Amino acid sequence: MNDDSRAIAEDYPYEVGEQIGQEAVASGAPITPPPIPDYLQDTYWWAYVHPKSVWVFEREWLVNLILWGNMHKLTLAVLDEMDLQPQSSVLQVACVYGDFSNRLASHLGKTQSRLSIVDVAPIQISNIEKKLAAHDNVSAHHQDSTCMAFPDDSFDETVVFFLLHEQPEDARRKTVAEAIRVTRPGGRVIFVDYHGPKRSNPMRYVMKPILTLLEPFAMDLWREELPAFMPAGITPEQVSSSFYFGGLYQKVVLNL
Ligand SMILES: C[S@@+](CC[C@H](N)C(=O)[O-])C[C@H]1O[C@@H](n2cnc3c(N)ncnc32)[C@H](O)[C@@H]1O
Repeated sequence: MNDDSRAIAEDYPYEVGEQIGQEAVASGAPITPPPIPDYLQDTYWWAYVHPKSVWVFEREWLVNLILWGNMHKLTLAVLDEMDLQPQSSVLQVACVYGDFSNRLASHLGKTQSRLSIVDVAPIQISNIEKKLAAHDNVSAHHQDSTCMAFPDDSFDETVVFFLLHEQPEDARRKTVAEAIRVTRPGGRVIFVDYHGPKRSNPMRYVMKPILTLLEPFAMDLWREELPAFMPAGITPEQVSSSFYFGGLYQKVVLNL
């Protein structure tokens, strides 16, 4: 199973920095297509890499169910946070199943702003191209979040939606550092992810075994606050955190 999906991923002839819409948007420098990271292949092959994964999971109702009905609220938490000048550039680090990227692209369209989306899995890039084909302000980039090809300060705002809990600590720290590197001074990085819920929240006892079984790196975000994975030099004054659903989810905004 794993070998099949890895072979398909490696054969996939995706062009780096390919554009979805008609308008020119920020593109990554040509690089060798990144391999599927081991943690993605070993732990999440069924969700993001297997050829049938998109067919199974690409449904807003299913993503909303996985998030216990909070998908709409968490999507709005990102859109409401954005403070965009006309013709801004926004990066979404990693694809998200459901309507999140469509809504983000529409939201950015109101200010003639552009959305670049990075993902390391060719099948996810292919899917996002189809899913966002109606938007002319979007580009997809086959890159690894831990070593992106964009120059420093390329984006006004960067969004990392439910990626960090899926990465082992080393990759998570690199992703956070890269999101900061490619976002300009004065810009913002918005993280939305799991968080350790309050002891009084019954979801704590439901989610702990589920995450431990299916998403083993997620428990890091229960034990540590997300800013603990930011590079040295980020001060607490730059960070603001909001919590949702009894603390099971968090939004962390980093002002650069
Ligand atoms: C954003 S996360 C999870 C989002 C959410 N749980 C959902 O419903 O889609 C999933 C995406 O992250 C991508 N991903 C994982 N590791 C990555 C990396 N190192 N670089 C870029 N994309 C990565 C996967 O390929 C997948 O498309």
